[in-house]
Amino acid sequence: MIDLQQITFGWPDRPALLEIPQLSIEQGERIFIHGPSGCGKTTLLNLIAGIHPAPQGSITLNGEQLNTLSGSQRDRFRADHIGLIFQQFNLLPYLSVQANVELPCQFSKIRRERAEQRYGSVAEAGLSLLQELGLSGLLQQPVTDLSIGQQQRVAAARALIGSPEIIIADEPTSSLDSANRAAFIELLINECDQNGSTLLFVSHDQSLAQQFPRQIDLLQLNRAGEAV
Ligand SMILES: Nc1ncnc2c1ncn2[C@@H]1O[C@H](COP(=O)(O)OP(=O)(O)OP(=O)(O)O)[C@@H](O)[C@H]1O
Ligand SMILES: [Mg+2]
Repeated sequence: MIDLQQITFGWPDRPALLEIPQLSIEQGERIFIHGPSGCGKTTLLNLIAGIHPAPQGSITLNGEQLNTLSGSQRDRFRADHIGLIFQQFNLLPYLSVQANVELPCQFSKIRRERAEQRYGSVAEAGLSLLQELGLSGLLQQPVTDLSIGQQQRVAAARALIGSPEIIIADEPTSSLDSANRAAFIELLINECDQNGSTLLFVSHDQSLAQQFPRQIDLLQLNRAGEAV
C-alpha cells in the first residue's frame, strides 16, 4: 500500500540525500524508522506524505501515484488519508485544543464521516481521543498555553481523528515523560490496529522499537553517499 521505487532526492545545491531503490509497506504494518540525526528521516516522511514535490522515482500510496498528482491534489490526498504528527507539531496557535483536534474533519469529508460513524459526532471523537491522552481538562485552552508534551499529545489526537489509513509520526514522544510516553504509544498502536492503519514511526528512542514488528535503519536502506 506504500510503495517506493528508485527514489532520488537532494536539496538544491547539495549532494543527493536519499537514494532508495525500493521499499514496500503493507496496509496495517507498524514500522519503526531510525538513523542518526540529519540522515534524512524527516525528509523521507515528507516525501511519502507528499509535502515535498515529487522526487525522481515513484511513490505510490493506496494505489495512487503521487508523482502524477498536482500540489493541490496531493494536499487533498493527504487530508483524506494521512494523519501526521510532525517533529514540530504544526498546531494552529491561538486556536483551542478542541478546535485543533477537530481541524482534519473540516478539511476532509471522508475523515468527518468516519469520526461521526464511530463516535456519533466529530466533537465526541475529539473528546474521546483527548481523554485517552489525559487532556480532556484542556479542551478550550489555546494551544499556545500548553506545555510541549501536551502539544505533542494534541498533535497525536489531531492525526488520529477520522481514522486515516496512514499515520506518520516524526519523533512524537521526545517531550513526554515515561508514563505519558507509554500511554501515548499504547493509544497510537491501539488506534492503528483497530482501524487497520499503517504506522510509520520515527524515533531515536530504541526502547520503543520492540513494539514495532518491523524496523528500518535508514542508513542501510539509503544508497546516497555510497562510493560508486
Ligand atoms: N528545507 C531544507 N533545505 C535544505 N536542506 C535541508 C532542508 N531540510 C533538511 N535539510 C537537510 O537535509 C538533511 C536531512 O534532514 P532531515 O531533517 O531529514 O534529518 P533527520 O534524519 O530527520 O534528522 P533529526 O533526527 O535531527 O530530525 C540535513 O542535512 C538537513 O540539513
Ligand atoms: Mg527529523
